Amino acid sequence: MRTLIKNGMIVTTESEFEGDILVEGEKIKAIGENLNESAEEVVNAEGLVVLPGGVDEHTHFNFSFKSATTRGWETSNAAIAGGTTTVVDFCNQEIGKGMIESVNNYLQKIAPMAMCDYSLHGVVFDPSDKLFEEIPSIPEIGVPTIKLFMAYKGMPYHCDDSAVFKALLAAKDAGVTIMVHAENADMIDVLQKLCLQKGQVDPIYHAVSRPPVVEDECTTRAIYLAKAAGAPIFIVHVTSRGAMEAIRNAYNEGMPVFGETCTHYLVLDTECLAKPNFEGAKYVCSPALRSKEHRDALWEAIKKGWLKAVSSDHCGFDWSKQKHLGKGDFTSIPNGAPGLQDRLQVLWTEGVAKGKISRQRFVDLWATAPAKINGLFPRKGILSVGSDADIVLLDPNEKGIITNANSYHQTDYNTYEGMEYMGAPKKVYLRGKLVYDNGKLLIKEGQGKFVPGEPFGLCYRGA
Ligand code: URP
Ligand code: ZN
Ligand code: ZN
Repeated sequence: MRTLIKNGMIVTTESEFEGDILVEGEKIKAIGENLNESAEEVVNAEGLVVLPGGVDEHTHFNFSFKSATTRGWETSNAAIAGGTTTVVDFCNQEIGKGMIESVNNYLQKIAPMAMCDYSLHGVVFDPSDKLFEEIPSIPEIGVPTIKLFMAYKGMPYHCDDSAVFKALLAAKDAGVTIMVHAENADMIDVLQKLCLQKGQVDPIYHAVSRPPVVEDECTTRAIYLAKAAGAPIFIVHVTSRGAMEAIRNAYNEGMPVFGETCTHYLVLDTECLAKPNFEGAKYVCSPALRSKEHRDALWEAIKKGWLKAVSSDHCGFDWSKQKHLGKGDFTSIPNGAPGLQDRLQVLWTEGVAKGKISRQRFVDLWATAPAKINGLFPRKGILSVGSDADIVLLDPNEKGIITNANSYHQTDYNTYEGMEYMGAPKKVYLRGKLVYDNGKLLIKEGQGKFVPGEPFGLCYRGA
């Protein structure tokens, strides 16, 4: 099957021009102006922006926080509806089991359900010696990235400095990228207890007990651990000016230190947590939402490339049942919020349409850089000959309001409810197949494929 997409504004990280894309089977066969090619299907993309399918490198399907678990792969059509054709999901190590066994078990579970292409990060839940011995062989199963949580004292997945240091040492010769959630767990633990002792139980105290300094300190410490290990490091969901500057400065001094931020940290703020009637719980995520000063710093960082990617950190918890587990004790509110479907519209509207970032910068943050970080490039994340034909046709003039009624994540709220958008995906192609057409999802369960990541990604190569 050949499809010819004609006269769209094709955007890559380095160029934009009005032209055509020829798709043959699952791949891009040709790109150029006025392609004179025959095709079974010719699509007029005049007035539309042609983007690579999104790569969301930070999602949590089936993630448990105390007794609550996020919605799983049955909701992965939310990715396609939002123009994301590949997600890199966090696969939690099963306690008592190795990472390789855990990943293989998870892959079996995902395969019949996935509605977008996918790759995985391993998440350390059991930092035993066996795990550190296993890290160098993890790329053999197509997983070149491992995340450690430095933030959640008392949780099974919390890792202390020695675990992070050992992981960095084990990873570096194998090209495995160590990713960390950097917040000082001890400071948070003390601050949480102080709040609760004073009867400060509402969602806003989530932010009070996780001030920016806990992120600044831990990010700086993680960078020192990486320096001592002689390994690259990637800091996930950066939210504070101090953390961002620590990453930028280390990189400028020649260290392989990189980071991402997430959509919600760019557009929402701490005030959301103060919403009445427990509405604030919808916005409980870690690190916590910040003030305008930090948001402005994050916009500057993504514009200038000091932070490499914008992810969703998607967590499909619902509000009425799961978030309410923390009513009367903010420390029991499940951390995380949905956002997979909304990443394109939020970043395009607030970034491109409002003139904060260029279209080319958007493409890098949205698809190209995350594909490189996770060893998926150039198969994913770029419109180029030989790459998978993952393509979004976006109407930059379509306006509307984000609402949960149009969301596929199957929770009872949308983090961006009521936000006006400017720009919407009209058609989405996954490996050459039309899977979303003008509001209609055409994807079926099991159609998504596993895409193995290669080791020695962007954090090792530097670009
Ligand atoms: O609040 C968040 N971000 N929840 C998901 C787990 C994590 O820390 O990334
Ligand atoms: Zn995290
Ligand atoms: Zn996360």
